[in-house]
Amino acid sequence: MRAYSLIAPGKINLALEILGDRPDGYHELAMVLQSIDLADQIDLCSISIDSIRVRCDHPQVPQDKTNLATRAAELIAAQFPQAFAQYGGVGITIHKRIPVAAGLAGGSTDAAAVLVGLNLLWKLGLTQWELQELGSQLGSDVPFCIAGGTAIATGRGDQLSPLPSLDHLYVVLGKYRSLTVSTAWAYQTYRQQFSSSYVADPQMAAREKVTLHSSPMVKAITHQDGVQIGQLLHNDLERVVLPQYPQVLQLRDAFHNSGVLGAMMSGSGPTVFALCQSYDQAQQVKDRVKGTIVDPDLELWLARFSPAGIRVVS
Ligand code: C5P
Repeated sequence: MRAYSLIAPGKINLALEILGDRPDGYHELAMVLQSIDLADQIDLCSISIDSIRVRCDHPQVPQDKTNLATRAAELIAAQFPQAFAQYGGVGITIHKRIPVAAGLAGGSTDAAAVLVGLNLLWKLGLTQWELQELGSQLGSDVPFCIAGGTAIATGRGDQLSPLPSLDHLYVVLGKYRSLTVSTAWAYQTYRQQFSSSYVADPQMAAREKVTLHSSPMVKAITHQDGVQIGQLLHNDLERVVLPQYPQVLQLRDAFHNSGVLGAMMSGSGPTVFALCQSYDQAQQVKDRVKGTIVDPDLELWLARFSPAGIRVVS
């Protein structure tokens, strides 16, 4: 039986700016994305029957066709019917460590791992760029999850420019177990409340994206300047999620007051992260916040910035 195991890292946003509406109904974004080593493990193996079977050890992850990992396998099977016929079905097991619906691209990274794994299992010979093109049909974050590291992401979030890697930094991540935020809800609410400030002229939006390449955040990353990066963290979606979820704001404030480089919500939330210089500092911050917010619903993780996306381990 042929089988592969893959590590699928989560991501945080160091910057998320919403520029305006796109003709496809999505938003035009200017983001800086960073992989972290809080990761899922995805096991793929050939099975004797001609079907795609997904199992996951987490109760919140659907095991039907709404699972993005299932959709990734179905997409590849539809695009390469001969390979599917030749190699047969696939069993996919997701060992979930990244919190679900948390703004950390947990579903997208599982789908990314399925694309990378099936490329090997079915000997398709696709390049990383081709896998990223397929991934963008599944979700805006999937191309980044395949590539990983540190990158500028524009368009829907699927147009990537790599940046120098920042793997000396750490984050403490905090999320209330029972709290999830729908990404679609966050963007729709932002549109309802703030679309009057959208850049209407496509040329101006294009200029804003180019400006990002010489922005203070990108300069700070190039200089590996953690202090500056912490001060420049920015996420437009905080404007809609924090007023709706005061607990998330309280958590961000608790991180801020722990002497970290910076603290911010990741993506559409509700996960909040605190940027730290070292493992020891991150451990201290984690302990301090655990003491400040005594709530069994709050989960905290410590993670390091990761220079890579999907990795095949065996
Ligand atoms: O691409 P993905 O399926 O992850 O996006 C989830 C939802 O987030 C979309 O259905 C859309 O409502 C919103 N979104 C957006 N603009 C983007 C990315 C996501 O409006 N660039």
